[in-house]
Amino acid sequence: RPVWAVIPAAGSGSRMGTAIPKQFLMLQDKPVLAHTLDRLGLHPRLRGIQVATAADKAQWNAVAQHVAPLTRDKLLPVCVGGESRAQSVLRGLEALDAHADPRDWVLVHDAARPCLRQADIDALLQALDAGAEGAILGAPVADTLKRVDNCVIQETVPRQQLWRAFTPQAFRLGSLRAALSAALRQGVEITDEASAIERAGGHPRMVQGHTDNLKITLSEDMDMAAIILVGILA
Ligand code: C5P
Repeated sequence: RPVWAVIPAAGSGSRMGTAIPKQFLMLQDKPVLAHTLDRLGLHPRLRGIQVATAADKAQWNAVAQHVAPLTRDKLLPVCVGGESRAQSVLRGLEALDAHADPRDWVLVHDAARPCLRQADIDALLQALDAGAEGAILGAPVADTLKRVDNCVIQETVPRQQLWRAFTPQAFRLGSLRAALSAALRQGVEITDEASAIERAGGHPRMVQGHTDNLKITLSEDMDMAAIILVGILA
């Protein structure tokens, strides 16, 4: 089945401390979001990309100008994002409905993760091809985990079986749309797609990905992303 992508890119990036949201900051030669779009757009199995954004026209045009021609051909008209990441994703899925079949696969990927490797997309798609109902990229937790209250350690949390959840996260368009809108209706906080599917009783696969698929959150992450990109694009 065809594979599509939805990119939530409507965040304000308040933790970054910059006036411009992080996905529109320049990372080397182009905006963060342009890198992210190319990482997906240049994958041969990607059919089309739906971006949900709150950007003004000039900001978005600067992104569209910087993507590779092959990626540009795959960009669907942008839609407006929502107040939370989950709402932005849902708006993106609703817009994608006009182009795709409910049984098609959709990869939801954060705008702020520009260092996605083609090999990790391949691994994710392989899990789907092997019969998974859905799959996400992630990695086992490497650090010791503490529960902390007001800078005082309360306890050490056992890390066996604990994984970090990255994106992309891949599901069938119809089931993800239903699961997300149900979760949002119930008013629960949803920070990734898999949790909405889990709430609906699903058991998606965890696919181990590279930990350099970082989410740019703080300003120091920009320097890290620039270094990683050099390696990935080499
Ligand atoms: O804020 P956080 O790093 O969790 O955001 C993850 C992704 O979700 C980013 O790409 C951000 O632009 C997006 N987002 C969104 N709409 C919001 C909040 C975040 O599309 N209201």
